[in-house]
Formats: sequence, C-alpha cells, structure tokens
Amino acid sequence: MERDIFIIGSGQTPFGEWWDKGIRELADDAIEKALENAPCSAIDIDMVIVANMLAEHVSGQAHLGSMIASLLPHQPPAIRAEAACASGAVAMHTACSMLESGRARNILVVGVEKMTDADNSTITSALMGAADNDKDAPSGITFPGLFGLIASRYMHEYGLTREQLSCVSSLHHAQAMDNPNAQFRSPAMPDQVSASPLVADPLRLLDCSPISDGAAACILSTEHKSPLRLAASQITTDTTSITGRTNLTSFAATREAMEHALTEAAIERSDISTVELHDCFSIAAVISLEDLGFAEPGRGIELYQHPDPAFGINRSGGLKACGHPVGATGIKQVVEIGKQLLQSKKQWGLAQNFGGIGATCCIHIIENLSSTHSHV
Ligand code: COA
Repeated sequence: MERDIFIIGSGQTPFGEWWDKGIRELADDAIEKALENAPCSAIDIDMVIVANMLAEHVSGQAHLGSMIASLLPHQPPAIRAEAACASGAVAMHTACSMLESGRARNILVVGVEKMTDADNSTITSALMGAADNDKDAPSGITFPGLFGLIASRYMHEYGLTREQLSCVSSLHHAQAMDNPNAQFRSPAMPDQVSASPLVADPLRLLDCSPISDGAAACILSTEHKSPLRLAASQITTDTTSITGRTNLTSFAATREAMEHALTEAAIERSDISTVELHDCFSIAAVISLEDLGFAEPGRGIELYQHPDPAFGINRSGGLKACGHPVGATGIKQVVEIGKQLLQSKKQWGLAQNFGGIGATCCIHIIENLSSTHSHV
C-alpha cells in the first residue's frame, strides 16, 4: 500500500429474504450502520463505490452509483464495480487505489444485491453471466453444474468422499448459529447434508450457497485512523471459461493473489488467524484452503474434519450459511474479519472473494493494530 488505509466504519444488513426492501433501502441500512461507528459524518465522504452484479436483471435498475450517492446529503462522486461474485472485493480494491492515489480521503464502499425478487430460473441464468457466454453457457450448464463437475473431478483425483465433503457445510451452519446476520441459523449435521436433495451431482442443496438479499458497507480512510488497517489488497484473473483450464481442482488466480497479498502485507501465511473464504459451493471452500496454502492439495478437507480452534474458517457461516447476496459478499467478508480480529484481539485476518470459476480473485489482508502482538 502506498498509504495507510483504515477501516473506520462498517456495517451490514442481515442476509436473507427481504420482501419489503429494495436495493436502495438495503444499501441505506448498511450505510447507516457503517456511519454510526465511524469518526466522520456522511458529508465527509468524498466518493462512493457500489458493488453489484444483478440489478438490471432482477430490479430493472442500472446506474447504481448515482442512485446510492443520492442517499448521502451532498451527492458525492460515485462509480459501480462489477466482477460477478467478486464485485464486493473489487469495489474495495478500487477504493484502495483511489485512496492510494490521493484522489479521495474517505470512501464509502457499499455492496448490495437483491436476488429473491426473481424466480429461480431467471436468477440462475443471470448468474451464468459470471461464466463465458460463448463457451460455457450454450451447453445449458448452470453454476451448481459447473461446481458439480469440479467436485466430481476433485473426488476422482483425491478420493474425497461424499461424507467427508459434508463436513464443510456442517461447520458453516454450526458457526452461523452465533451470527445474528446469517440467513440460516440452524444446524446441519453431515448426514443431513449428504441426504439433502440433489442439485448437480455430487452437489446437494446443503452444499450450495443460497439466493439472498442484503447489503454491506465499509468506510475506508487515509484521513482518519482506526485499529483496523488494510495491509493488502490484491486482484488477479484467470480465463472466464472453464474450457480454458488445464486444472479443475485448483484456481491459479487464488494462488497468485495469495502470493502477492502476503508480499504486500509482509507477513507469513502462518501469521493469519482467521479467514473468510469464498465457499459458493462446499467444494470451493476445500479448494480455496489449498490454493491459499493452508493445506496441501487433496488435504483441505482435513481442516474441516478436525477444525483448529486457533484458526477460524468462515466463522460468519460463510456464503453457505450466512448467505450470498453476490455484490455484498466481498464487503461483508472484510466487515466480518474486522469484527473477528477486534473480538479475538488477534493481529491478522484474510478475506478471499472470487467471481465465476475463480476467474477474478481478490484477497484482502487486515491488521488489527490493537492486537497484543501488534508493534504499532
Ligand atoms: N441452503 C439451505 N437451504 C436452502 C438453500 C440453501 N442453499 N436454498 C434454498 N433452501 C431452502 C429454502 O429456504 C426453502 O426452505 P423452506 O421450504 O423450509 O422454506 C427450500 O430450501 C426450497 O427453497 P427454494 O428457493 O425453492 O430452493 P431452490 O431449489 O429453488 O434453490 C438452489 C436451491 C441451491 C438451486 C439455489 O439456492 C441456488 O441456485 N444456489 C446457488 C446460487 C449460486 O449459484 N450463486 C452463485 C455462486 S458462484
């Protein structure tokens, strides 16, 4: 980072089904919460960056930058960031660049998605916009289908069993029970996951992140300080189409982003005590743990079978149980890591957000300067 960037305010709506609220209202609720705990007021925001993927498809609304900026008293400059399910983290990354350049000093980053207003077939087609419309979509495959292929290949290569994979969603559901903002606050034992309805073989209902509404917001600042410093913000890409990949059981963009992020933060992987990773489907969590270097290839599942209390994985419940309103997810992950670091007094946490089949990957590393280990 060219300058110190602090998270000076953050908030989110509960994720779930919001029948009585649209994009504007959800964003407004998250912004209000972020401003409540910030040392500045709305008028000090000199730029707004909105993350969203699906507003045109579901709500017939484009031009979200100016619409969300209208929620502030002075209509500041605003832009929208879209990178499928990585839109939230890409908005954070864009904000970092603006702050590093000195063009802005206090940026409001808001991720918002309204998904439940559309029927399942509309939303499933719209989500396929995250894959390649020429190469992948004509086969009729869906996102659960794409990750079903990946899970099959992984099981073939590494011998992962259906019963083992069920530990992933089971842990995420258990952890969401402590999160008041989570969409599903109910336990799911591994045998319930294995017995849930088949969606795209071998993936079942309880392997899938849900269709969700929700918003999350962060205020990033170079002007005001807080205990939470953004130590790294990295973005990488890979082919949009799955047909261009030589390896289906590892995402190169995650590996590359992780190496860059550790270098930027100047820390070791082992310094990180909590991660929020992109478990859009259970198999994605296993692959992400390996690509982030926390497990050897083929052994990511062991971190779910024998969880280490000193290393948090998706304590929010992850996308599976906390919910996945796509544009809000990457920002919610950063909000969560901040909260977890302050509560645990640990120093380092990481958020990994990807779009498509790991086609855009964005990693943020956050430092808690009030941690007992911090020297600042
Ligand atoms: N986990 C747990 N329960 C779920 C769920 C999920 N992912 N999705 C739906 N449910 C529950 C609903 O709450 C509902 O419960 P109820 O009957 O007690 O009210 C029930 O299952 C049926 O819900 P419904 O909305 O009809 O499910 P569906 O079959 O239409 O959709 C999926 C289920 C898995 C197909 C859908 O959630 C989906 O497409 N998920 C993937 C989203 C995605 O691809 N995101 C992008 C990732 S890259």
